[in-house]
Amino acid sequence: STSNPLHVIVLAAGKGTRMKSALPKVLHPVAGKPMLGHVLDAAAECDAHSVHVVVGHGAETVRDYVATRNDAKTCSFVSQTEQLGTAHAVNQAMPSIPDNARVLVLYGDVPLLPANLLKQLLALPSAHLNLLSAKPLNPFGYGRLVRNSSDRVVAIVEEKEADEQTKKITEVNTGVMAANAQQLKQWLSAVKPNNAKGEYYLTDIIAMAAADGVTVDTVCAADAEDTEGANNREQLAQAERRMQLRQVKQLMEQGAAFADPTRFDLRGTLTVGEDVFIDVGVIVEGDVTIGNGVHIGPYCVIRHSQIADHTVIESHSVIDNAIVGVNCHVGPFARLRPETELAEGAKVGNFVETKKTKVGKGSKINHLSYVGDAELGENVNVGAGTITCNYDGANKHKTIIEDGAFIGSDTALVAPVRIGKNATIGAGSVISRDAPADALTVARAREQKSIAGWKRPVKKKA
Ligand code: UD1
Ligand code: CA
Repeated sequence: STSNPLHVIVLAAGKGTRMKSALPKVLHPVAGKPMLGHVLDAAAECDAHSVHVVVGHGAETVRDYVATRNDAKTCSFVSQTEQLGTAHAVNQAMPSIPDNARVLVLYGDVPLLPANLLKQLLALPSAHLNLLSAKPLNPFGYGRLVRNSSDRVVAIVEEKEADEQTKKITEVNTGVMAANAQQLKQWLSAVKPNNAKGEYYLTDIIAMAAADGVTVDTVCAADAEDTEGANNREQLAQAERRMQLRQVKQLMEQGAAFADPTRFDLRGTLTVGEDVFIDVGVIVEGDVTIGNGVHIGPYCVIRHSQIADHTVIESHSVIDNAIVGVNCHVGPFARLRPETELAEGAKVGNFVETKKTKVGKGSKINHLSYVGDAELGENVNVGAGTITCNYDGANKHKTIIEDGAFIGSDTALVAPVRIGKNATIGAGSVISRDAPADALTVARAREQKSIAGWKRPVKKKA
C-alpha cells in the first residue's frame, strides 16, 4: 500500500574473504547470473517501492552490474566503507527510508531464495517483526532462533556466542527479515558491538523487539537449501547445481528429456518445445529457443540462438547467435558463428565454420569448410574443403552462390564473387571472378599432365 511503501535493503558490501577472489562475493555467478542478480530478481517480484543496495567491497563493479539490469531505475546505492557488521550495513540505508515504510532485509549472497518465500513473509502482520527461518541439516555457522516457553522468538544467538544448549537449536536465521522502519531505526541505533567478532549484529534487534513487546513472527522455509548462503567456492558450486536442477525440472515439465539432468547447464533463458532430447554435457547460454522434436547431441554449446522443429544437432557443435530452420542437420563438430541462418533442411557437417552466412533450403556444406559473409541459394552443394576468402586484409567481401550450384572440393572462392544458378565449379579451383550460370568453370594454376619415365630425386651423399 502507498501508506506503507516497501523498501528492500540488500546487503552486498562484504568482501567474501572465503571466496579467495578479486570479484566481490555477490557478483560470483550462479547459472550465469551474479548471486546479487538472483536476489534482486526475487525482490522485483515483491513490488518494492525501491531497493537499496548496500555496497562496499568492489562497489564500482557491483554498481556497474546493477546498471545493466532492467530494474536499475528502482535500485539505489548506499555505501558502507567499513564492514562493521550487518546492523551497521542496514543502518547506512535507513536515512533514505521514510518512517512509515516497511523494510525487507535481504543478503546478496543467498541466490536460491524463491520469491514466494518473501511473499509469505510479507503476508505476516506488518506491525510485527517478521523473520524467515530454516532448519538446515547442519545448523553450524548460523544464528539460532531462541524461543520462550510460549514458543515466541525472543532472541537470535550467533554461532560464536552460542553455548552448548543454544547450539542444539536446529531452527536458524536465514538473514531475511521484515520490519517497520521507525522501530527498526530505534533498534539499530541501540546495537552495540559487544560480541566475539566486535561487529554490529543485526540479529541483536530481535531481543530488543521482544523486550519492547513487539511480536516476532516467523515463516520457516520448507526447503532449507533454498535459503543457504554461498560464502566459499564449495557452497557456490552447490548453489549452482541446485539452481541447475531447478531449471531442468521446469524444462522437463515443458517436454524436454535429458540423458542426465545433472549434466546439463543453462546460463540464461531456454524455451523448449515438446519431445526435445538433450544429451549429456550440453551448455546453453543467453536467450535460446528450441522447437519440437529437436535432438541435441552430447557436448554442444548453444548461445543466443533459435533452433526450429525436428532439427538434429550432433555432438560437439557450437551454435552462437544463429538461426537454424526446421529439419536441419548440424554437426558433429560444426561451428555456426554469429549471423548464420540455415533454412529448412540445410546441412552443415563436421569441421565446418560459418559466419554471417545464409544457407538456403536443402543446401549442404558437409565437410571441412569455412563459409563467411556468404549467401547460398537453395539446393547448393558445397564440396569438402571449400573456403570463402572473404577478407582481403582490410575489408570483408561477400560471396553469393545461386540456387543449384555445385562447388567442387577444395575450392577457394575469392570474394567479392558470384556463382551463377546451376553452375559447377571444378575441384581445386581458385575462383576470383564471377562464374556464369549453367556452365562448368575450372580455375587451376596448372592443368594435369603426366611425364613418362620421370625419376624421383635421390638423397645426395654428404
Ligand atoms: C548472518 C547472520 C546469521 C545468519 C546468516 C545467514 C548476522 C550477525 N548474522 O551471518 O544470523 O544465520 O547470516 O546466512 O547478521 N555484509 C555487509 N556489511 C557488513 C557485514 C556483512 O554488507 O558489514 C553483508 C555480506 O556481504 C553478506 C551479508 O551481509 O552478503 C551477510 O554477512 P555475512 O558476514 O555473510 O554473515 P554470516 O556470518 O553469514
Ligand atoms: Ca553469509
